[in-house]
Amino acid sequence: MEKTLVIFKPSAMERGCVGQILARFQQKGLIISGIKMMWLDEAILREHYSHLVEKPFFPHLLKAMMASPVIVVCLAGLDVVNVVRMMTGSTNGREAQPGTIRGDFAMSNQENIIHASSTAEEAVVEIGRFFKPEEIYEWKPEYMDFIY
Ligand code: PPS
Repeated sequence: MEKTLVIFKPSAMERGCVGQILARFQQKGLIISGIKMMWLDEAILREHYSHLVEKPFFPHLLKAMMASPVIVVCLAGLDVVNVVRMMTGSTNGREAQPGTIRGDFAMSNQENIIHASSTAEEAVVEIGRFFKPEEIYEWKPEYMDFIY
């Protein structure tokens, strides 16, 4: 089964909406393969956001991502990368469609509640960045054998 990485950003921790959003993913039928809390440091953020280090907002992004611990979650399911991106909505909360996570919880580009991997290839790299192999559990409920 495909996997993706979701980071509950400090904005989600501060707003107290982690449970509601995790419930959306479970309600949709996605499997939690890994979950943990961690405080990100500058080194891991520079790697994770390496494509953004030259952007003028990068120092703000760094500060915002280190404002509190985050919760990292590895979700599994068929086409899970695309499913989670659709559920997440556009980067800017003000432009995200109502019904999406950012559309319902965010009013900002920066404080946009969660990060979600954008491609299956990126997801493999990102899961490896935040989880040790033994922290990812390969399991699924039996009914999923019949889903395609
Ligand atoms: S890009 O430029 O196409 O790579 O943008 P994107 O992939 O959507 O990622 C942008 C991430 O940077 C965070 N961020 C901001 N984006 C735009 N403008 C401002 N001011 C800004 N501040 C922070 C944004 O939340 C995206 O984070 P992730 O974790 O990828 O969602």
